[in-house]
Amino acid sequence: MRIYDIISHKRDNKALTDEEIRFFVSSYVKGEIEHYHAAALLMAIYLNGMNERETVTLTLEMAKSGDMLDLSGIDGITVDKHSTGGVGDKTTLIVAPIVASLGLKTAKMSGRGLGHTGGTIDKLESIPGFKTALSPEDFIRNVKEHDICVVGQTGDLAPADKMIYALRDATATVGSMPLIASSIMSKKLAAGASCIVLDVKTGSGAFMKTPEEAEELSRKMVDIGKRAGRRVAAVISDMDTPLGRNIGNSLEVIEAVEVLKGKGSADLKEVCLVLAGNIISLAESISYNEGYEKAKRQLEIGAAYEKFREFISAQGGSLKEIDNPELFPEAEFKHDVLCKKDGYITKMNAEKIGSSSVILGAGRVKKEDSIDHSAGIILHKKTGDIVKEGEALATLYTNRRETIASAEKLFLEALTVNIEKKEESPLIYKIIS
Ligand code: URA
Repeated sequence: MRIYDIISHKRDNKALTDEEIRFFVSSYVKGEIEHYHAAALLMAIYLNGMNERETVTLTLEMAKSGDMLDLSGIDGITVDKHSTGGVGDKTTLIVAPIVASLGLKTAKMSGRGLGHTGGTIDKLESIPGFKTALSPEDFIRNVKEHDICVVGQTGDLAPADKMIYALRDATATVGSMPLIASSIMSKKLAAGASCIVLDVKTGSGAFMKTPEEAEELSRKMVDIGKRAGRRVAAVISDMDTPLGRNIGNSLEVIEAVEVLKGKGSADLKEVCLVLAGNIISLAESISYNEGYEKAKRQLEIGAAYEKFREFISAQGGSLKEIDNPELFPEAEFKHDVLCKKDGYITKMNAEKIGSSSVILGAGRVKKEDSIDHSAGIILHKKTGDIVKEGEALATLYTNRRETIASAEKLFLEALTVNIEKKEESPLIYKIIS
């Protein structure tokens, strides 16, 4: 078999055989295929797409390209969630302890933020002492003992995805539906959980800009998961406006704790309950409504908060800051962004707001950049709110005073203020299961 022929088949819009896909993935991981050949094939896939069979085969081959975590030694049902990424998305910090407090074995590998989006691992690392790098054995032990463990990628999971993703990033081939679906699902399958809920974001701050694109991606990923023998559901949720009010690592932990204590932003709480409700429904084979009510109760009786404390402590994190959020180190500079005119906020471009928080130090532009855990933004007003000239729209937090002017400029560019109120977009578009 020759990679040249595989490229020409896809260039001519032919479906690749399973053998061709297998050959490509395994040879590329072994270093037997040149990057320029792989790049040409990815561009042909980008332009001509893949059918369902090809996408499933590609995903399974990528999943099998490295370690496949074996969670079979864990008694009980293993669950996982995945978000396609957004701004202010701290749902894992809330959803994971809710479902773990019901005894579901929550085994989650999370990522770091990149670009305008945040990542759970960076958020958890803002808690003093919290360890995100555990061996696969410690990961499994924590799940067994505490029902919950959240770590950065452990072991050598889906190395084909790492290589292919880096190449896509450099060759303008990231935005391809079969390539995104196989990238996400290969990692989820390799991570081993039997029930997976996908939070597919849509809107200005998301990969999928329209609900239609988000639905197509969701259906592909649910289909792949089911064919691989997992129970999978996808929730299509809004990322046109940042989720909740706090953006930035320790600021987001603080907001997650507020929700876990029964307070916090209504939009954030609702998305978390929908995600948790779906996980519980899949895992316990009950209706979604029953799952949702169970999740709500775990929040209300404080069981989710207690499980969160247990989880943080089990991974070495300090509970002093969790119980007293005012003890988290605060950024040296605080700056209120003032409103320029009266009206209603009719749009907040979540990507620009995420980029504004990156400028303040909350995220990285390059993988190796260091981040400032206390930097970020607290929103005082959100889409749909009435605003008055001179009123504080948000507070910017940073330790780098020189970033404030450009972060403020970008933040203001992200906002549209109109005399007329517009209809708000829904928080949850659809659930696909
Ligand atoms: N997240 C991933 O892990 N892969 C993609 O291709 C896109 C988003």
